[in-house]
Amino acid sequence: MTQVTNTVRFVLDGQIVEAQGVRRTTTVLDYLREQLRRTGTKEGCAEGDCGACVVMVGELNAAGTGVDYVAVNSCIQLLPALDGKSIKTVESLKHADGSLHPVQDAMIGCHGSQCGFCTPGIVMSLVNLVQTNTAPDRQSITDALSGNLCRCTGYKPIIDATVKACEKPSALKIDDRADVPLLKEIQRAKSPTLSLEGDIIVQPVVRTKKGNEFVSPATLAEVADYLLKFPSTTLLAGSTEIGLQVNKQFSRPEHIMYLGNVQELRQVQELPHAWRIGAVVSITQVETLVATAYPDFAEVLRRFGSPPIRSTATLAGNIANGSPIGDSMPCLMALGASLLLRRGNKTRSVALEAFYTGQKQNVLQAGEFIEAIDLPKPQAGQVFRAHKISKRFEQDISATCAAISYHLKNGKLSGVKLAFNGLSPSPMRAPKLEAVLEGQAPGDVTAQALDAAVAASFTARDGLRATWAYRSLVARNLVLEFIEENTSEVA
Ligand SMILES: Cc1cc2nc3c(=O)[nH]c(=O)nc-3n(C[C@H](O)[C@H](O)[C@H](O)COP(=O)(O)OP(=O)(O)OC[C@H]3O[C@@H](n4cnc5c(N)ncnc54)[C@H](O)[C@@H]3O)c2cc1C
Ligand code: FES
Ligand code: FES
Repeated sequence: MTQVTNTVRFVLDGQIVEAQGVRRTTTVLDYLREQLRRTGTKEGCAEGDCGACVVMVGELNAAGTGVDYVAVNSCIQLLPALDGKSIKTVESLKHADGSLHPVQDAMIGCHGSQCGFCTPGIVMSLVNLVQTNTAPDRQSITDALSGNLCRCTGYKPIIDATVKACEKPSALKIDDRADVPLLKEIQRAKSPTLSLEGDIIVQPVVRTKKGNEFVSPATLAEVADYLLKFPSTTLLAGSTEIGLQVNKQFSRPEHIMYLGNVQELRQVQELPHAWRIGAVVSITQVETLVATAYPDFAEVLRRFGSPPIRSTATLAGNIANGSPIGDSMPCLMALGASLLLRRGNKTRSVALEAFYTGQKQNVLQAGEFIEAIDLPKPQAGQVFRAHKISKRFEQDISATCAAISYHLKNGKLSGVKLAFNGLSPSPMRAPKLEAVLEGQAPGDVTAQALDAAVAASFTARDGLRATWAYRSLVARNLVLEFIEENTSEVA
């Protein structure tokens, strides 16, 4: 285990790459194309939308015996966050004898490519899929492709190619045996470095002459300590917001702290009545976690961005970013989620509904961060419904997303919690609408009463994604749908 400063070390096809002199905000895509000349990986949008830049990023599995991969949008990932990991690009797929991966062969055979610009990203998304699912059904294939735009081929030949490639399941796994020992070699220390006085020293991955840093600590203690010393540090989790700020707004934060290597933040802890979801647990992991308990929540998350976005984006990043159209928050608020906030060695719990103080404003104090999200487990008889309305089914952001939780007691709605995004400067509960529902039989709730409560709860404003007339109508109709479909009493 070695600490190296100003050198980002990662494994590429059986070799350690030592990237020196990179900026804190160099993207993985730029490094691949400009320094390594791996130009198979393309730049389309540079904002995580088109999938032309998809590559696979690997980490040692828990046992240290193999590599676990996720497909990522390399255009919005910062190179220093790759330190200690491995990467596979479309060039990695060609075998030593010149033969191609079955997915590539099948793409040729099924005419799955025309201009070819999207093809490397599509191939990487599909190769990533078949690493863990060698017999994907049509739904899994289209899900895997939902972050890859192709404007000339059409998706049918691409889907056919995937099915054809899976006729040779034993050939689908990429050979990464040479990467495993190298990944072990480049791991950074898992415990903090201490000064002679016992103070924590967080070793930077990148440090500029001006003293600006990209740090990638391995422990919660280091995160908390560094933030006390440098409260204006930009926290980096999945990079699906920060990457855009870097590419589109040319943001160049002085200090960046990557949280992805902090083991304590990667876990989901089982508490008696809740799941404690660590701050770098990804949206994909949360989707799996809630699939049985809250299927509607899982469905909202299945429609969150695309697989490469969901596999890196975190729940905490979604909350901290605080977009008015953030999708997880209505579900979390309706379920009564709370945040575990940490500053130094002090923690406090804040209900998510009390977290926001305005548009992208919240109660976090200087040096404080989200350590975890406590998501209550379902109660007997609890009904939870949620739905996201957007122009496209996949890879689109909400016009509005609504979520509700309630019980039916003696045929009356009880304990109603209702929350929306897209109607106010931040996602929020809707107490006036809840009051219309509370204690009522579902059949007695009228559209007029709901319309009046919507008008009294939110400021009417048209937005780029939808007019107010549309949003307010949808909000009311979603509530009616949520209660009408659940008129049977649940024990
Ligand atoms: C193509 C694309 C599609 C998208 N689709 C959707 C969608 O459908 N629905 C949706 O809601 N969002 C969507 N997003 C937005 C984004 O993916 C989410 O907001 C995501 O959850 C952000 O998480 P992250 O881990 O990537 O955050 P990052 O980009 O790493 O960070 C986001 C913000 O949170 C702060 N932060 C991160 N972790 C912490 C912490 N532990 N404590 C305090 N602050 C922290 C960061 O400093 C930063 O300000 C999309 C983005 C892209 C690029
Ligand atoms: S270049 Fe479009 S998603 Fe990366
Ligand atoms: S082959 Fe041209 S965009 Fe897909």
